[in-house]
Amino acid sequence: MTQTLLQLLAAAREEEASLSPRPATVSGTSDTGTPTYLQDLPESSNGRSENEMSQSESPNGENKLAESFLDPMVSSISEAEPSNSLSETEKESTSPEEELDSLEKDGLQLIEKSFDYIVFSPSSKSDEKSLISDSDELKEKPMKPSDSSENVELSKSKGKKSVTMSDEDVAFSENPSLTKIATLRPYPSVSTNLDFLDLIDNSPNGCAMMEEAWERLKKSYVYFKGQPVGTLAAMDPSAEDLNYNQVFVRDFVPSGLACLMRNEHDIVKHFLLKTLHLQGWEKRIDNFTLGEGVMPASFKVLFDPHRQKEILVADFGGSAIGRVAPVDSGFWWIILLRSYTKCTHDHTLADRPEVQRGMKLILNLCLSDGFDTFPTLLCADGCSMIDRRMGIYGYPIEIQALFYFALRCARQMLKAERDGKELIERIDKRIKALSFHIQKYYWLDFTQLNNIYRYKTEEYSHTAVNKFNVIPESIPDWVFDFMPLRGGYLIGNVSPARMDFRWFLVGNCIAILSCLATSAQATAIMDLVEERWEDLVGEMPLKIVYPALEGHEWRSVTGFDPKNTRWSYHNGGSWPVLLWLLTAACIKTGRPQIAKRAIELAEQRLSKDGWPEYYDGKTGRYIGKQARKYQTWSISGYLVAKMMIENPANLLISLEEDKRIANSTHTRSASY
Ligand code: GLC
Repeated sequence: MTQTLLQLLAAAREEEASLSPRPATVSGTSDTGTPTYLQDLPESSNGRSENEMSQSESPNGENKLAESFLDPMVSSISEAEPSNSLSETEKESTSPEEELDSLEKDGLQLIEKSFDYIVFSPSSKSDEKSLISDSDELKEKPMKPSDSSENVELSKSKGKKSVTMSDEDVAFSENPSLTKIATLRPYPSVSTNLDFLDLIDNSPNGCAMMEEAWERLKKSYVYFKGQPVGTLAAMDPSAEDLNYNQVFVRDFVPSGLACLMRNEHDIVKHFLLKTLHLQGWEKRIDNFTLGEGVMPASFKVLFDPHRQKEILVADFGGSAIGRVAPVDSGFWWIILLRSYTKCTHDHTLADRPEVQRGMKLILNLCLSDGFDTFPTLLCADGCSMIDRRMGIYGYPIEIQALFYFALRCARQMLKAERDGKELIERIDKRIKALSFHIQKYYWLDFTQLNNIYRYKTEEYSHTAVNKFNVIPESIPDWVFDFMPLRGGYLIGNVSPARMDFRWFLVGNCIAILSCLATSAQATAIMDLVEERWEDLVGEMPLKIVYPALEGHEWRSVTGFDPKNTRWSYHNGGSWPVLLWLLTAACIKTGRPQIAKRAIELAEQRLSKDGWPEYYDGKTGRYIGKQARKYQTWSISGYLVAKMMIENPANLLISLEEDKRIANSTHTRSASY
């Protein structure tokens, strides 16, 4: 057994190597050989804090969270790339036999821009007339006809800009590969201790839930010209659609991973190409043109009944509540592209000129020179999964971790030809600076908390220990009780005189998966989850953020947001989708028992409760006040978690540590 596993691990390492950065030509290496300068953390001590927070279970209880808030700022947009259209050379180099070419080469043409959304239609090559009116008569029909199941009510027209169409050309085909079970090779991140393989839950509950989840996931497929291109956010017949009848880029990630694990690759490929095309069009909100690389938050497929044509409608934040920027979309897109490449061994997709260009445009948005004094990415509030005002403006850990992850994934896939070499150099520098900054300034454990508590202020010059001039009195009371002696985490945000001490699950798990956290930090993060199980997992995994904002903090930070009351939704609600991220982090750190416990908790209620979007309450006991039922990523997140725990080879998404980044010669500050 051990030998076989070791052989498999060796094979997987080879495979990882095959995804390493490739030079433009076959010979040579693209490694920069730049010196590295990072160190691991010292070991944290063992033990446990006596004090626990005592707060009421009621979603409407109150506690105190000290945090300042300033005006949000938006990340800068970088130097211009060549125009949207491909060069002649690039066009020629796209393989004509790709089955998707019909889809892609149809081209999409911008036919309507409005304050609410941008509409694209098939290009006038195939249809000269094709203009859609401002459309009360246009109605939504994003699903194939056969999908009118009991849970689906998709043909309703919602509001002024909805569009419905029927398309005689669309041949909605069942995908036979859905029934295939994937046989994947182990991933080198997986601990060599694979004893947990016997943890597989074959209980009737687990099996029945898996079957149900697959069925529901399949029903959420959205088709464009007969090809599956994504999954609906939710299929709750009892709630208003709002934008839950769209394909969200971030929501599709667990769906896409589930499909990859099941050898159903096409939907992921189509999704990647469709969203890439949406990126290619001019994006406007009012009179402002968004950066070229911006990826949509979501899109939907509509039919024009007059033209009998399908069109895509995309939202780049212009329709979103609060007009929030989907900064995470482009990063998730790159990460999914790398998972696709890793799973299928199909490098031709990532190598396509338009895909290379899409990656570059996304990265150009983040790597341009500006006034920054930190390598972190400056963001507005609501720029990620938490897409409402929640005091995450500035340098939120979720975005920094995704940024780092995307940089490392792109580094493996970008070709060094033409301007690629210079971009790769910029990526290398940023990767190092970013990991140093996050590992050093975002890390909090018992020792570091004590250091900050004793910080001097008003220090001037580069010798300052308290570099950001954090006033110790701004440390919220709760964190002293919350911090165990064993464990630690990356805090939510760091900027001048501001540390947001809240725990955010996505940022911490992504930091583990991307190796942004050192291995000692990764271990400590998992220790914290164990030590603070009641707070972070409770009765339903998992808290998106801990703790909730209450009272004055809630009023001032959220702007009295009635959807984000304490222990609800983004404000300390529990999100089943996060199960897949925790499970991936558990497998990577060799702690599958933690994930197994969380999965078992979810299995007790998730299906019975109708796969809600989120739960409310301090321990996550109540189905969320405004939670959608049959939320697709709650379903696919469960599937991905189960498939990874059953077969760690399914840990497609994780990256190996890069020794060039990890071995530091840099000296730490006295406060570390
Ligand atoms: C909510 C979530 C967001 C998600 C969307 C669709 O707005 O906050 O992260 O993408 O729903 O599920």
